[in-house]
Amino acid sequence: MFDNNTINRFQQLETPFYYYDLDVLRKTLEACSNASAKYGFHVHYAMKANFNPKVLDMIKSYGFGADCVSGNEVKAAIEHGFGKEKVVFAGVGKSDKEINLALDADIFCFNAESVQELIIINDLAKAKSKIAKIAIRINPNVDAHTHHFITTGLEENKFGINTWQLPDVADALRACPNLQFLGIHFHIGSQITDMEVYRSLCIRVNEIQDWFTDRGFDVKLLNTGGGLGVDYHNPDTNGISDFESYFKVFKNFLNVKPGQEVHFELGRALVAQSAALISRVLYVKNGIKKNFLVLDAGMTELIRPMLYQAYHQIENLSQTSEVRDQRLEGNEKFESLEKDQSHISHLTSHISHYDVVGPICESTDCFRKDVEMPQSYRGDLIAIRTTGAYGEVMASQYNLRDIVGSVYSE
Ligand code: LLP
Repeated sequence: MFDNNTINRFQQLETPFYYYDLDVLRKTLEACSNASAKYGFHVHYAMKANFNPKVLDMIKSYGFGADCVSGNEVKAAIEHGFGKEKVVFAGVGKSDKEINLALDADIFCFNAESVQELIIINDLAKAKSKIAKIAIRINPNVDAHTHHFITTGLEENKFGINTWQLPDVADALRACPNLQFLGIHFHIGSQITDMEVYRSLCIRVNEIQDWFTDRGFDVKLLNTGGGLGVDYHNPDTNGISDFESYFKVFKNFLNVKPGQEVHFELGRALVAQSAALISRVLYVKNGIKKNFLVLDAGMTELIRPMLYQAYHQIENLSQTSEVRDQRLEGNEKFESLEKDQSHISHLTSHISHYDVVGPICESTDCFRKDVEMPQSYRGDLIAIRTTGAYGEVMASQYNLRDIVGSVYSE
């Protein structure tokens, strides 16, 4: 991801920023597109993972639809040229304003999460003399075996409609003339790498679609959500998720009837590996028990480690062997830095352990403890990898920080 030219380019830039490698993004989208096309599956990109405009443009160019979870996401998807017939609106708490916006935009489908929501969508559609297309989000009670903060398909979660409420759903659908039932929707969690979990999901989907068919409903659409994980530990050697195996599970175990469409809502697997958060070391604090690398990026730029104990690979780009060789060759850009640090062991690759922390006034503002890294210095560039999903979009201005910028490979 980082050749010498890229690292030299970073030297000129103000940090922190998200660096997007558009080539990585392109290759990932291609892999997903090819693997899903084999079976005629439709992929909607879960915009919540990253709504950076360049990222959206590229995703759209591959023909993916958009899975949105707010009125503003619906608006952004349409403004970015995702056709309205490819826009889906999900979410457990859609406001009237958001529903109206989506009705006005004539989107493809609402994924409805409660009986009450069905009634409200029907009323709002009626007021506009429209018919709202609906998929019912059902909670299949399948354990995704992922971090409990990002598990969504268990009965204890707020998402979807539990199966014992399905008779009420059927009654509501029959009583609501401004709703058109399209099918069923599921999403059981995120960062799922065990394909067995998806096999279990398929079995539940088959049972539930039979339930609807037996009661006279025409199930045109099966939407199995997203959740495919990425390899946070090996971004360079395993940078593209196993889309082939993922879609194959659904091909093998989902009971797809003639004429039915199968939809997916992938977020993380499409974008995570395409970005790294680039920051600089502000200070090195050497203590007796601990050494701290204090970065100019913190939980305001990337909150995943603090919120979910998420692992991200952390690399010192200024201490890679290539950059060090270049420095030995007398690259002027590094000279002032060398002088500043000449009292510290000069250009030897000692390994140290650091707690890598941010500047925010919170003890939890720590990317990882006890990270083994080359000895690091003020001004070194640090890359935090695999941050293209749920990175930039979850950034905040806590402590009145600047909004984090983005830089692109091309
Ligand atoms: N569909 C629905 C209904 C969802 O709720 C989500 C994600 C997706 C699709 C896309 O899931 P993906 O393919 O990206 O796993 N902020 C957390 C992840 C939250 C996921 C929320 N829902 C994180 O940083 O790990």
